[in-house]
Amino acid sequence: MPNPLAGRDIVAINDLSQAEIRLILTHAARFEHWCQEEPKLDLLRDYILATLFYEPSTRTRLSFETAMHRLGGDVISVADARLTSSAVKGESIADTARTIATYADVIVQRHPQPGSARQAADAIDIPVINAGDGAGEHPTQALLDLYTVQRERGQLDGLRIGLAGDLKHGRTVHSLARALAHWDVALTLISPPALAMPAEITGELRQRGLAPQETADLEAAMPACDVLYVTRIQRERFADPAEYERLRGSYVVNRALIERTNPDITVMHPLPRVDEIATDVDALPGAAYFRQAANGVWVRMALLTLVMDKQLQEIWR
Ligand code: NCD
Repeated sequence: MPNPLAGRDIVAINDLSQAEIRLILTHAARFEHWCQEEPKLDLLRDYILATLFYEPSTRTRLSFETAMHRLGGDVISVADARLTSSAVKGESIADTARTIATYADVIVQRHPQPGSARQAADAIDIPVINAGDGAGEHPTQALLDLYTVQRERGQLDGLRIGLAGDLKHGRTVHSLARALAHWDVALTLISPPALAMPAEITGELRQRGLAPQETADLEAAMPACDVLYVTRIQRERFADPAEYERLRGSYVVNRALIERTNPDITVMHPLPRVDEIATDVDALPGAAYFRQAANGVWVRMALLTLVMDKQLQEIWR
């Protein structure tokens, strides 16, 4: 079967069909399994990954780099491109990408401006993977989120999923909500009205047959959720610090709330958390957020090998 992801950019989650998403998740499961026995593989030995991050990151950059190291490839990295790359001198996103494309075989980019990943992708021929473009999208996070839901709950179809917190600025939930529209899920959007999911996205979801419920009442929504996906209020996206202060702490998920409303709930979070999930949740069996972060490696191994067109069927014994 030809590999539909060979040489592709991953800029927005809607760049991928449901079949392509399934392909990535299937390969991720194989990598998870395989790495238990053989933590370092040789599949991308001749390749170089460039990570170019203009915004802070712990998990996304390090899990991409871990994935590349586990695949036997090499990594070049600018972790604080806003300060140390030629962007400081006024270089455009396109020119920086054109230059890096002469060094590396694939670029993973994070930048504060929505549309920045598309700009880089349009400027060069090698694959560009969007690791977050401001309040726009974060497609690879959505892939690892789907993988985690499947891993924790055994399925996607039939689940009731709540997305809570800053749905306005949170790029992870923008990508995840769109990704979930491929499955038969019941979606509840939980946020203060000022941080609601953009109408453009809810409109798209409705058109695709996923009519989300919207509410500000987290406690009332919890009993009707199998999975609760909590997000951080995105301080860096607020023009007015007073508005952030007003909205921070809107929701706090703690152990008492879970025990009172839905002890079986699976709690996810893209991390970092600030105070929206209390640390007394961490020991509950449903607290999946650190397992979720670990899953990023398998999903990114799958993505890198597929985009670099490694014929995996020859490799799986
Ligand atoms: C998220 C991000 O950068 O959008 N983190 C991540 O990639 N795991 C979430 C956040 O910063 O709140």
